[in-house]
Amino acid sequence: MHPEEAAGQASRISMHGHWSSRMAFILAVTGSAVGLGNIWKFPYVAGQNGGGAFVLVYLFCVFMIGMPVMMSEILIGRRGRRNPIATMALLGEEEGHSRHWQWVGAMAVVAGMLILSYYSVVAGWTLAYVQKSMSGVFAGASAAEVSAVFSDFTGSWVQTGVAHTIFMASTIFVVARGVERGLEQAVRFMVPGLLLLMLVLLGYAINSGSFGRGLAFMFSPNFAALTWDGVLVAMGQAFFTLSLGMGAVMAYGAYLPEETSITSTSAAVVLADTTIAVLAGLVIFPLVFANGLNPSEGPGLVFDTLPLAFGQMPGGVFFATIFFVLLSFAAWTSALGVMEPAVAWLVEHANRTRIQAAAMVGGVTWLIGWGTVLSFNVLREFTFFKGTIYNNIDYVTTNVMLPLGGMFVTVFATWVMCRNSSADELAAPARLQIVALSRPLCSTGGDRIHISACGWRFGIMAAPASNAGLASCSNA
Ligand code: TRP
Repeated sequence: MHPEEAAGQASRISMHGHWSSRMAFILAVTGSAVGLGNIWKFPYVAGQNGGGAFVLVYLFCVFMIGMPVMMSEILIGRRGRRNPIATMALLGEEEGHSRHWQWVGAMAVVAGMLILSYYSVVAGWTLAYVQKSMSGVFAGASAAEVSAVFSDFTGSWVQTGVAHTIFMASTIFVVARGVERGLEQAVRFMVPGLLLLMLVLLGYAINSGSFGRGLAFMFSPNFAALTWDGVLVAMGQAFFTLSLGMGAVMAYGAYLPEETSITSTSAAVVLADTTIAVLAGLVIFPLVFANGLNPSEGPGLVFDTLPLAFGQMPGGVFFATIFFVLLSFAAWTSALGVMEPAVAWLVEHANRTRIQAAAMVGGVTWLIGWGTVLSFNVLREFTFFKGTIYNNIDYVTTNVMLPLGGMFVTVFATWVMCRNSSADELAAPARLQIVALSRPLCSTGGDRIHISACGWRFGIMAAPASNAGLASCSNA
């Protein structure tokens, strides 16, 4: 056993440093959650899956599945204080199960690199849109002109490849600098700034003349338009937007101070993230209908709608530039989180410096990213299973690997970890505590806490700020 393990888990510390405060942690997890998933992906998958009913399923998944999974990831991460693979191995053993739980962590690292590969490409698009907005091409442009800018740009593998490269290089740079100096400083102003600009855009959308139609598209459920595949996509989107299922939040949890409440922290992140996604939908769909665009057009949706709105408003060049700067920034703070598990693993396991680890993970991910770059031009017609290379990487990671990872993590936190271990972690001062509803399932000593098995049996109750009701396990 590691000497520091023998000293007891309560005093376990992370070798990568700690967040300076609870607020810093909330900012970092929110920075990871709020990104392209909210503003680029949510509107386009909602549009492709018919709106209303999809949004309902999505919201259900965010609160009933996403929130408990987030709590599980944080509590496992904080208990293990290592990279996700090592943490799962360590806790698996410590809680009397097996080291093989580390394979969940391994799948997470692979999923993370695959996700980052296309995330970086789309983040490159937003970077390029900073420059395009500044140049004024969108000022007074028609819907057709704005769409042409997008298809010309993504049609060029050189331009999109360069943007992808710049984005990945900047991500490697920050990850290499380490937790406190790198991640924490990167997230302070982005979320409030983004929120503010979304509100400006909302004002524009309300006056677009089609706000009612946009609202109806998003919120009046038409279940006929929802397929089973759509339900899976909604669940995948819930994981994606909250950064769950691949150890990103777990890796951040490893740096969380002992006394911070996991429940209220998770609730704050989920609320902030959902607010931004819903706002994005409320801005984009009215614009789609006001300009006769197609809500199901796919990944170009945001790039075809928002520049139109900016192009028509006073000060549009300025606002558009700021908007795409903030969106690039949001993408960037998310990308840092996707990269963290793999980097932390290389540092701890393969004895690499952070700089080497970041360069290695970033380099491999950058290479894989070319599959996505080319999916929008040279290899556009090269389709199989779910579509282009991009479509397939996205489908398998978001809709299969993330939910699977999330399921394993929740099963681990609820059934494998001893009730008092989980309770220990959840017991920090909080108004809200997730309280076990189902009976203890434990046969080998120690009750298991039930945060929920993927949200099936789950209750949030107001509870006193103590863990008296939870920590009843005898094998402490
Ligand atoms: N949640 C981010 C977004 O919405 C993307 C992201 C960051 C992510 N970290 C992740 C997605 C981990 C899945 C897993 O843009």
